[in-house]
Amino acid sequence: MPVRPVTAQTLLEMKHAGLAITALTAYDYPTARLVDQAGIDLILIGDSVGMTVLGYESTLPVTMEEMLHHTRAVARGVKRAFLVADMPFGSYHSSCDEALRNATRFIKESGAHAVKIEGGERRAGLVRRMTDAEISVVAHVGLTPQSIHRMSGYHVQARSVEAIESLYADAAALQDAGAVAIVLEGIPREVAAEVTSRCTIPTIGIGAGPDCDGQILVFHDLFNLTFSSPAKFVRRYADAAGFFANALDQYRSDVSTHTFPSDAESYHLSREVAAQLETHNDQTETLSQSSLVAVAGKA
Ligand code: KIV
Repeated sequence: MPVRPVTAQTLLEMKHAGLAITALTAYDYPTARLVDQAGIDLILIGDSVGMTVLGYESTLPVTMEEMLHHTRAVARGVKRAFLVADMPFGSYHSSCDEALRNATRFIKESGAHAVKIEGGERRAGLVRRMTDAEISVVAHVGLTPQSIHRMSGYHVQARSVEAIESLYADAAALQDAGAVAIVLEGIPREVAAEVTSRCTIPTIGIGAGPDCDGQILVFHDLFNLTFSSPAKFVRRYADAAGFFANALDQYRSDVSTHTFPSDAESYHLSREVAAQLETHNDQTETLSQSSLVAVAGKA
């Protein structure tokens, strides 16, 4: 049966029908296929790829080329989900023109349906420019990992009345500018619930409680592949690290004890070629024996 792709309009309809939006990150072809086939509505190629896959300390070093490379791989594995590519740090900060050029590359060269940018009201002008250029934008407010130095670490945001009011203003400005959805990260549940009820566009929460229109997690957090203690909001659904470690141990042991590969896991000659080879070997052996006899006779 043909699949009906999820669009920004689908997400909007889901919000207004009270249907929870499911979202997850993915960074490569096989996991993108699995996530898509599981029926997840939105796949984010997050710049968290820098930490989860590339081993960086933060998301800051991630480049445009790295994001495009991973977005292309994910796009090749997805048939249904709405694909959002994260714009990396520095790719939308220096000028609107450069931001627009970079955002266009995600849509044109990598198969993304939308881009995501971090920041509140001060990004509203950029969201408007991108929307005018037919590029759908997902906004991201609250704990924005690209602001790690300005925030002095990864801390829950919007905890004072002033900060809460400022977050409400951020969400309103981004919505008015044309954002198709807003990621709410690392904020109190009560604040996320209020933003969600004030916004007509969907909110997707991560560490923002259950009252958002949808939820997103980082793929590697879900599967215990992040090698660090998880944040409070992470629920581990499987222990892939343990699963891989057991299999790797078994593989190393099988190779060391010569129990891998078995005969059944080996290729074999056909009977015909095996017989020809045996005759050929016999002839070669006879020939080399007669040359040895000849050499010995001359000596
Ligand atoms: O990069 C990422 O994975 C994200 C999510 C945490 C929303 O921005």
